[in-house]
Amino acid sequence: MSKITVVGAGNVGATCADVMAARELASELVLLDIKEGFAEGKTLDMMQTATLRDFDTRITGVTNNYEATANSDVVVITSGIPRKPGMSREELIGTNAGIVKSAINNILKYSPNAVIVVISNPMDAMTYLALKVSKLPKQRVIGMGGILDNSRFKCYLSQVLNVPVTDIDGTVIGGHGDTTMIPLVRFATYKGIPVTSLLSKEVCDKVVADTMVGGATLTKLLGTSAWYAPGAAGATLVESIIRDQKKIFPCCVALEGEYGQKDICMGVPVVIGKNGWEKIVDYKLNNEEQTAFNKSADAVRNMNNVLTEIKVI
Ligand code: 2OP
Repeated sequence: MSKITVVGAGNVGATCADVMAARELASELVLLDIKEGFAEGKTLDMMQTATLRDFDTRITGVTNNYEATANSDVVVITSGIPRKPGMSREELIGTNAGIVKSAINNILKYSPNAVIVVISNPMDAMTYLALKVSKLPKQRVIGMGGILDNSRFKCYLSQVLNVPVTDIDGTVIGGHGDTTMIPLVRFATYKGIPVTSLLSKEVCDKVVADTMVGGATLTKLLGTSAWYAPGAAGATLVESIIRDQKKIFPCCVALEGEYGQKDICMGVPVVIGKNGWEKIVDYKLNNEEQTAFNKSADAVRNMNNVLTEIKVI
């Protein structure tokens, strides 16, 4: 049976662990945090819901004890500080780069064969950092941003169409930033019908704009980053790995010429299975979409350059 570790027991990490436990994605789930007793408390609380929600996952909380994470199949990195209202994800880079680097190094000591899922922000740069620091095969390092952005995109589409969200399909590629993500309206459908034939351009543009600032809207309302959707999105990605589902999700992965970019980690549609991401799916972008993707890449690359400047890679 599988073992999963979540590093960081903050709102996103704890929610992700909770959703994964309820879905019984692993027989053993470890939640690790640097704050004494924090992960222990959260996991004890979660375990006390097991009988109420009928799951058998054994969840353990530890304080900075990486030995307890040994032989994990998947490790989800959520550590770092969250956004405050008015803050961009990019502003977190100085603090979070060191935290994520240290978490990756510690994880690899005990789980050298794990697939690493990065949720910490700024997520595209943190995924690039994880790839460089870990020196793992590229398929085993996946950033989670597109699944979340896409669930927000589909949620807004279902609201304006007034239809069930499960009947909507769509995808969001590019960077996981307020100005860098690209909700691909051209590919969004309601039961196979293009949403562009059901909604006016103004409404489509508003849905795109709302999706792009989806995280910022919640940060403003909550005073900190969102957690239900980010946690569930992380769990959904891990589920496709653990159950080898081969689902297609937009995820942040290393590009080597695909989508016209290289030496960068960015959101593109990929097939996710037990070995990590297995294949990049080519959506054949039109000129306008490719231009937006290239612009997004420039912004992500600027963040990656900061990693070199602050000497974490
Ligand atoms: C979000 O968009 C935390 O980046 C995450 O809510």
